Amino acid sequence: MRTRSLIFTLGLCCITSLASPTQIVLGSSLVELQPVPRKLHGRFLHITDIHPDPFYEPGASRASACHRSNLKDKRPAGYYGAPYGSCDSPFRLTNFTLDFLDEHWTSEIDFVIWTGDNARHDNDHDIPRPLDEIYDLNRAVAKKMEHVFLRKGIPVVPSLGVGGCRYADPKDPGNIHLDWLEEQLEAFRSRQMQVWITGHVPPSEKMYFPECYYRFAELNLRFQDTILGNLYGHLNVDHFSFLDADEIDMSMKTSSSRTLFQTLISEFSEIPEPLEDTHYDNYAVVNTNAAVVPNPYIPSFRIFTYNTTGLSGFVKDIGSGPYLQTMKATQRRRASNHGQVRTSKKPKCERKKSRNTWRCHFDKPWHSDSESPSRHNSLWSPLGFAQFYMPRLAEFDQTHDPEFELEYMTFPLSKLHPDEEAHNITNHQYVIPLQLLPEELRQPGAVESEYTPYELNDLTIPSWLDFATRLTKNKELRSRFKKFMYMGGVEE
Ligand SMILES: *[C@@H]1O[C@H](CO)[C@@H](O)[C@H](O)[C@H]1NC(C)=O
Ligand SMILES: *[C@@H]1O[C@H](CO)[C@@H](O)[C@H](O)[C@H]1NC(C)=O
Ligand SMILES: *[C@@H]1O[C@H](CO)[C@@H](O)[C@H](O)[C@H]1NC(C)=O
Repeated sequence: MRTRSLIFTLGLCCITSLASPTQIVLGSSLVELQPVPRKLHGRFLHITDIHPDPFYEPGASRASACHRSNLKDKRPAGYYGAPYGSCDSPFRLTNFTLDFLDEHWTSEIDFVIWTGDNARHDNDHDIPRPLDEIYDLNRAVAKKMEHVFLRKGIPVVPSLGVGGCRYADPKDPGNIHLDWLEEQLEAFRSRQMQVWITGHVPPSEKMYFPECYYRFAELNLRFQDTILGNLYGHLNVDHFSFLDADEIDMSMKTSSSRTLFQTLISEFSEIPEPLEDTHYDNYAVVNTNAAVVPNPYIPSFRIFTYNTTGLSGFVKDIGSGPYLQTMKATQRRRASNHGQVRTSKKPKCERKKSRNTWRCHFDKPWHSDSESPSRHNSLWSPLGFAQFYMPRLAEFDQTHDPEFELEYMTFPLSKLHPDEEAHNITNHQYVIPLQLLPEELRQPGAVESEYTPYELNDLTIPSWLDFATRLTKNKELRSRFKKFMYMGGVEE
């Protein structure tokens, strides 16, 4: 399995992400450090938006970006951070988080997706942030990542930066970036490999240059049989959304002043029902993760589990058993299915204004396959994730060490414990290692838990669509979802 990264830096988001050349630092480390053979665990870490601030002062006022004290501030900056505010992270929190992952998670995961933003915000007129500082902060975090993960042979995949995509301009940086992505997807597909797409800014009509967005969405659908999922950060809000064929087919969405939560629920309510196999061709799923920085919520990271059933557990043994069977079956299906050509001859495309847009020139066949791991739980399919957070951030200080706690999991409660009769149980057969779960979940047999409200059997496209429609109908589930989005806070 290979992972490649993609990011567009645009609009308001550019300020910190434009200048995030982390890949230079980390790229060179990746070349120097040859991965040591490790056992596959079927899990990976997604971490994003660390934003350490070297000027952070415990006890300072929030109005000063946690840089200077003001005795009037009733909720001054805490020792490990200032939750639900606009301050960045003290290095103490960055270090604690990475040291915690080092101690508890490095022996349980296969790779790390790291989707950017490692500088503090430039939000204090008294201490402006020069370009050098951004580079230094990127280097500091990259160095820590290298120490914690790369040194142990755990690959870290960071996000790269660009923008534009005007149809008639092949030299536009956005087009060049997407040309690159298209080539990569074609190459991986022809090798029957599966990829995750990762980036800093989640794709949406609002956040990307529109032409880049349509091109990106079309690539996601065209290579649905090759893409396992999409992982992003930037918004610092835990949520998911869809890229769907309708947007590419030119039905323009009206913009409005709705909150992100309202927008998502309204989009979910447009999903046609009942969903049938052919409908699934029209969707790709985007997962956006909450941030490490407690701005505007609280520190968080996410552990994904993916399907490695039947593999011996060693990467070197991949060329046998279920892996080969999967390759052969995929080959057979592809031989009889050459993809569906989506006609882009829309009435609108006759108009001069639309003629030179990407959406009037998508004429390559889309590769969807109801048996691919993005559609059907099989080798490499994402199975679920566990979200960890630090709800008591404000309580921790010199004498009280911070703790990460489980916030929730997408798995059904029944999947936490493998069938202990049937197998020789090894740690990697548990979706989440028992010792990293709250006490109450470590024993099999629980029938109910606050931690497992979503009950998603896997994270395939059909499961996400089913969940999205459940959210529109079930008020209680919807309110849980909203609570997790804003981690108990309110939308900023
Ligand atoms: C964070 O860790 C780095 C590298 O281990 C170290 O140099 C730095 O002093 C630490 N900072 C704090 C505040 O703990
Ligand atoms: C992984 O996929 C296989 C089908 O290829 C399935 O039998 C197995 O149950 C899946 N594993 C998990 C843990 O869901
Ligand atoms: C369980 O493990 C033992 C010892 O490693 C082995 O002999 C046995 O064949 C295994 N059973 C199964 C069902 O894999």
